[in-house]
Amino acid sequence: MFDTMTSTKVLGAVCGSLLVFLFAKWGGEALYHVGATGHGGHGEGEIHAAYIIETGDDSQGDAEAVDEGPDFATLLAEADVGKGASVFKKCAACHSLEAGETKTGPSLHGIVGKSVASTDGFGYSGALKAVAETWGTDELNAFLTKPKSFAPGTAMSFNGLKKDKDRANLIAYLESLGG
Ligand code: HEC
Repeated sequence: MFDTMTSTKVLGAVCGSLLVFLFAKWGGEALYHVGATGHGGHGEGEIHAAYIIETGDDSQGDAEAVDEGPDFATLLAEADVGKGASVFKKCAACHSLEAGETKTGPSLHGIVGKSVASTDGFGYSGALKAVAETWGTDELNAFLTKPKSFAPGTAMSFNGLKKDKDRANLIAYLESLGG
């Protein structure tokens, strides 16, 4: 009997102090919010703003900035021609590798080192010749990263290959075919 009474009292005391604790916590939070937003010029927004670090780097979102790996020459030297052949499937809908075979785009036979827009009988847009003379590996790399940025107005409706490795493998493949 006596034991039950004692434990009930103890339980009551514990509950009581928990309640006091909770009230103190709520009170504290309410005070904090008043303090943080109440006195002009010290809102929470401004407190957070103090921690924004200005990096000066606004290149985020550019296709070129996707991969921060080894430079392109290194990737090209280590390229996997077999993988390049499968990347070419993305181009094959519009480009043949057979000389003189025109699809939506001109034949890419011997394209590495070839003069830009030089396939006879293909109706080029003129946008490519405006920005490059010869399809060296660097020009192809730049063009294939984002065709419409490299050659504004180009008739090639292709978004580009964002991965440096894909471009390196593909260009190595095209180069391996010779011309
Ligand atoms: C939707 C069709 C389409 C796809 C897909 C496409 N191309 Fe093209 N491509 C074209 C057209 C059309 C042109 C002609 C562009 C112009 O005249 O502005 C072109 C032009 C080119 C040229 C310039 C050729 C020259 O004779 O100067 C190269 C190089 C090229 N494409 C490579 C590629 C590669 C590599 C891929 C795959 C990664 C690819 N293209 C995907 C349609 C396409």
